[in-house]
Amino acid sequence: MKGLSAESIEKGLTTVFMGRKTIYYHSIGSTNDVARELAARGAPEGTLVIADEQTAGQGRLGRRWLAPPGTSLLMSLLFRPRFLAPYQAQRLTMVCSLAVVEAIEAVTGLAAAIKWPNDIVVQGKKTGGILTELGATGERLDYAVVGLGLNVNLDFGAVEAMGELAATATSLSQELGQEVSRLALLWRILESVEGRYQRLQAGELPHDEWASHLITLHNHVLVDTPQGVVEGWAEGVDADGALLLHTNCGERQRVLAGDVTLRKGRVGMDDT
Ligand code: BTN
Repeated sequence: MKGLSAESIEKGLTTVFMGRKTIYYHSIGSTNDVARELAARGAPEGTLVIADEQTAGQGRLGRRWLAPPGTSLLMSLLFRPRFLAPYQAQRLTMVCSLAVVEAIEAVTGLAAAIKWPNDIVVQGKKTGGILTELGATGERLDYAVVGLGLNVNLDFGAVEAMGELAATATSLSQELGQEVSRLALLWRILESVEGRYQRLQAGELPHDEWASHLITLHNHVLVDTPQGVVEGWAEGVDADGALLLHTNCGERQRVLAGDVTLRKGRVGMDDT
């Protein structure tokens, strides 16, 4: 499989600042770690850190992110959104997940969706995930690093270390039946992120469009939150990405972080 490079990425870039400074690694621990270090050293907004392999890829909630070398998009984007407070940072993640959905649909023709809060889903299975990390001073957001892992060309059933994920995870090539260009996806993601980020900066809120792509809404859900498990009806999301639940106890609850399982009909039947 052909590796990426800063030169090949630059060739097809259509953006003004997103990805114009690109740091490519054949292999690195975690692109998010590098992007955070660069942010602390003053790297510009739009800096892209991208790798063909991660040896310590991080997922949400302290999990690991696994991807065989050369198969995936493993990338982190640096933002300096002075117009957002730290509690509004999920707006940035919304912008990026919408850009990924748009790019998947444009490049592959596959329908893509989002599972609250940050999973990219194709045919009901996880195809990508986003890990956003913030640098803040009090109430001021100094920077945000949005890390994306997107399974592009891999077959979960054929990779021994990942076989057990095959029931819940997939890749674009697996769903399409042919290889997909990582570069074409990357260029489209960067272009879409840039446009959406500029609109966010101009005051346009992304949560209505984001909600329209969420498979989580209008379902009976079970949410594993840092404060415990909550069960109820997913009614909507607010401007900052919180999930609005009508709980089984008849209360309204706003959930900021967690892992969702969709429940269909009766308890015990999960479809994700
Ligand atoms: C999730 O748990 O779904 C989020 C996964 C995020 C993985 C990406 S891969 C590129 C970037 N670097 C990391 O270490 N993690 C993110």
